[in-house]
Amino acid sequence: MTAFGASPERTARDLFAQAAGEAFDDAALEPDAVEELFYGNFMGEFAEVQGHQGPLMAEAAGVSGPSTRIESACASSGVAVRHGVNQVRSGQADVVLVGGAERMKNISTAEGTKALSAAADALWEIKAGVTFPGAYSLMANSYFDEFGGTREDLAHIAVKNHSNAVENDLAQFQMAIDIDDVLEAPTVSSPFGLYDCSPMSDGASAAVLVSEEFAEANGLDTSVAITGVGQGSDSLALQDRVSIPETPAAVEAGETAYEDAGITPEDVDVAEVHDCFTIAEVLALESLGFYEPGEAITAAREGETTIDGELPVNLSGGLKAKGHPVGATGGAQISEMTKLLRGDHVNSDAVSDATVGLTHNAGGTVASCVVHVLEVVE
Ligand code: COA
Repeated sequence: MTAFGASPERTARDLFAQAAGEAFDDAALEPDAVEELFYGNFMGEFAEVQGHQGPLMAEAAGVSGPSTRIESACASSGVAVRHGVNQVRSGQADVVLVGGAERMKNISTAEGTKALSAAADALWEIKAGVTFPGAYSLMANSYFDEFGGTREDLAHIAVKNHSNAVENDLAQFQMAIDIDDVLEAPTVSSPFGLYDCSPMSDGASAAVLVSEEFAEANGLDTSVAITGVGQGSDSLALQDRVSIPETPAAVEAGETAYEDAGITPEDVDVAEVHDCFTIAEVLALESLGFYEPGEAITAAREGETTIDGELPVNLSGGLKAKGHPVGATGGAQISEMTKLLRGDHVNSDAVSDATVGLTHNAGGTVASCVVHVLEVVE
């Protein structure tokens, strides 16, 4: 992944070319080995007036063959990874490039907010003025009503994720914050203040996926494998959900990925989850079966998911502090988790015994969700 943050002088194609180049170096492969590209992007038409990004990004990365842009809001590149995995597993290709990019800092926060709102239901939500901080604050207030919890509980998640990013050179915010900083920050959408929100970000991510046969025949180092994939969907509009503070698309994605990998939630040692807002991390951990509904907020308060907790979550800094260039985020989770498990991430020492990692990438108010299980292989 590229460093996330503001890249005012660089287009999305520049950013993706950099991420792809680094992925090729990491894989010890040349671009001409790639047979197909799956690329995630959400708001290119708004931010750069650029559609038709599949072939554009293939050209930027120096690859040929079929190229497909995937759009699934903030889950765009996670879904691109899933398509790449399935293409390799089905035997259609041995080498696939996956990833994504987004530019959000070249437009104003107001324009970015409008662009992001297109991930909601145009008839029933956008026309009523729903923005993403607004939608997730409805989910947070609904969670508080149903299960209890306070703004201060959520603040622990922001503090944890900022702390995890302090040494991560690729993160947008490498600064520690404390509970008072979170509680005293300007309100964005009650109960959220500034530090409950992920930021607007520019950035790109890429990964080279290869079949086992190709890796073996070419002597590639594949010490981490994707062993489970799952994806789920839900009603686009919150009003059509059975329960607002629950995310069944993530339940479906998680259960499918666990079954695919032949594991249970208890086997997971470390997780990167989609904390676009602090409440989103709570909802993710409950949907993925790490906690019962209503319990993950207590886990946050009690520090169970900190770097030295029982289940370290978002050691990259998460979307909150690493940044959230929406079309790049799912691929970035794969990149960060691979490094964490391989031992070459700045926070790897905290999980040196970890063999199983999970990534959870959500679109909109989790109307789409994709989960990957990554495992250390001998
Ligand atoms: N967390 C921490 N600091 C943040 C931040 C965030 N989320 N967003 C901005 N900042 C900082 C900036 O670095 C800047 O700091 P500086 O003054 O020291 O340079 C300051 O806050 C003001 O930045 P600015 O870009 O003017 O903020 P803003 O008020 O225009 O936007 C938000 C802040 C929270 C409204 C915006 O980041 C946002 O909309 N986030 C949500 C994005 C989203 O919905 N993503 C999709 C999720 S589904």
